[in-house]
Amino acid sequence: MAIRNIRILGDEVLRKKSKEVKENNEKLQILIDDMFDTMYEANGVGLAAPQVGILKRLVVIDVDGTPYTLINPVIVESDGTQTGDEGCLSVPNKSGIVTRPNHVICKALDRDFNEITVEGTELLARCICHELDHLDGVVYVDKVEGDLVEVSYEEE
Ligand code: NI
Repeated sequence: MAIRNIRILGDEVLRKKSKEVKENNEKLQILIDDMFDTMYEANGVGLAAPQVGILKRLVVIDVDGTPYTLINPVIVESDGTQTGDEGCLSVPNKSGIVTRPNHVICKALDRDFNEITVEGTELLARCICHELDHLDGVVYVDKVEGDLVEVSYEEE
C-alpha cells in the first residue's frame, strides 16, 4: 500500500490529455492499488490517474462501497440532468455547483482487462463524468456555475 501525492490545481499535469492504457502489467496493478489507497485516505469518492501525475486513461471510483476500476472508459449514453455540489481532491477545501447528466452508461476495461459496462445515476453518474473529464485535462472548476465556495471540515 502506498499513498501517492495528489496534484493540486495549477499543476500542468492536470491540464494534459491522458493516453490509452495498452498493456496490463504489474506496474499498472500497483498504480490501481495505490490510487484506491490514496482516494480512501483522502476520503474521496473518485480519483483519476492524472491526479497522481500519471497521464493514463484510468480512474477509480467508490461512491457507495462498490469499488470500480475503469480503464480506457468511454461514456456511451447519457441522459437527464442533475445540478448540485461538486468537489475535487485536486481543489482542496472548495466546492461548486455543476450540472451533469443524471444517468450515464460507461464502457471500460476492469483491472483484469475484461470489458465492463457501468451504469450510474445521481452521484455515481456525476462521479463518472467528473473523473472522465480529468482524462481530457478538464477540471470541474471549468464547468462551475457561479463561484467556488470555501468548505471547511471540522477536525475529528
Ligand atoms: Ni477531481
